[in-house]
Amino acid sequence: MEDFLLKHAEKKPVSFHMPGHKGSALYKRFGHEKFLQDFFDYDITEIEGADNLFQREGIIADLAEKYRRLYGVQASIPLINGTSCGLIAAILAVVPRGGKLILARNCHKSVFNALSLGGIQPVYAKPVLSPEWSISGEVAPEEIERLLSDHPDASAVILPSPNYYGICSDIREIGRVVHQSGKILIVDQAHGAHLEFFHQFGETTGLPLNGERAGADIVVNSIHKTLGSMTQSAVLNLCSRRVDPEQLEEWLQMVESTSPSYILMTSLDINGRILEDHGPLLFREWQENLNWFYRKAREIPGLRIMEAPGLDRTKLNLDMSHRGYTGRALEEALIERYGIYPELNTGNILMAMTGIGNTREDYARLLSALRELAEREKRPSSRKDLPDSRNPGQEDRFSGLLSQEGKTCIRSVIPYPPGIPLICPGEVISRTQLEELTDCLRNGEKVLGLTNKGLIKVQEG
Ligand SMILES: Cc1ncc(COP(=O)(O)O)c(C=O)c1O
Repeated sequence: MEDFLLKHAEKKPVSFHMPGHKGSALYKRFGHEKFLQDFFDYDITEIEGADNLFQREGIIADLAEKYRRLYGVQASIPLINGTSCGLIAAILAVVPRGGKLILARNCHKSVFNALSLGGIQPVYAKPVLSPEWSISGEVAPEEIERLLSDHPDASAVILPSPNYYGICSDIREIGRVVHQSGKILIVDQAHGAHLEFFHQFGETTGLPLNGERAGADIVVNSIHKTLGSMTQSAVLNLCSRRVDPEQLEEWLQMVESTSPSYILMTSLDINGRILEDHGPLLFREWQENLNWFYRKAREIPGLRIMEAPGLDRTKLNLDMSHRGYTGRALEEALIERYGIYPELNTGNILMAMTGIGNTREDYARLLSALRELAEREKRPSSRKDLPDSRNPGQEDRFSGLLSQEGKTCIRSVIPYPPGIPLICPGEVISRTQLEELTDCLRNGEKVLGLTNKGLIKVQEG
């Protein structure tokens, strides 16, 4: 592991993936070298004076208060097991055992884990499919309104906004219909911790409203994904009095580690200080970099870049299929030839995730690589046209998978990333799902949840 990471760092890679700090330069720039040099000395436990994550009275209470102020919410709770643990606790705190939850079908696997833990019945809200980009888009308020009226016994609604590609839902309108029905709205804002600060510090951002501003009850933010703290550090924001904070804390104690890392919490603290002291500067720079990148990217023939109202444009969704690149082929070319590491590819889309730590030079290197690839490369023009990458052994295995059509799935099958279940427990497996699954496997994508024999776990008999 250490060798791998040392070698990777030696390549001086350009990061357009999580985490958002993008390496040590951000902390060095703002005078936090000491933390970087001596962080092992910060790895302590709950000694005298160090407070307790589950009974915050001292330095961890100060950390929570810092985020409460930064987001302007009723209460903030620092998390050290990612947004994942915040979502699980939030759901279990507001939906009784065996109760019903309305959830977007493209929720993250942690939401599905909460269903299993609480014996909760799912009611799926279908996100709109973006025909132009073939990915799931926002969840329409009308869809939520319809499900609330069909399922008056549901306790709460949860959806990701932004989703992995940056597409946001109209949380203000969804909040209105949810609250009209007396239910609770949880927003999975794992990918949108930064949105609040564009609104606070930016000029005319054009970015969608974050859940806290738009009236959600609970919003969980992966600070690590787009801002400046370390992987796994996150913040749960409580924004209304509809949720019982004690219930929430009780569940957090059950799902979080009892050995909270002071290193992770310190990185949350440093990120908070950087936002407080340098937020206006950093968000102006980020916005200028994005404006510059989009302007230049639009000029590259053969490159399409997603731009739409309701899009968190800090996620750069790139499509170079007109030059013969699938998302995966583009990712490989960027990594192998230019040392640029994007976040995710799906079909023809490659998503490069920007963060608070990206510099103008990172954007410039990405632009220059895209320009070169667009000029030189001419290959078959869609995934279907690429040379057939099928191999007979693999195809035999796939025939086993294809024979599972019509059976009932009992363990989620999850391409990772993005971590959104393709097939959920209780679903009758369809041909389309199987074809999508074999496509993912053929494409070399990681898929979680299959058995040792590479099959879907199904109900017997
Ligand atoms: C939409 C979404 N929600 C939640 C999570 C979980 O966040 P974390 O990694 O902070 O636990 C992820 C992780 O990628 C995600 O993509």
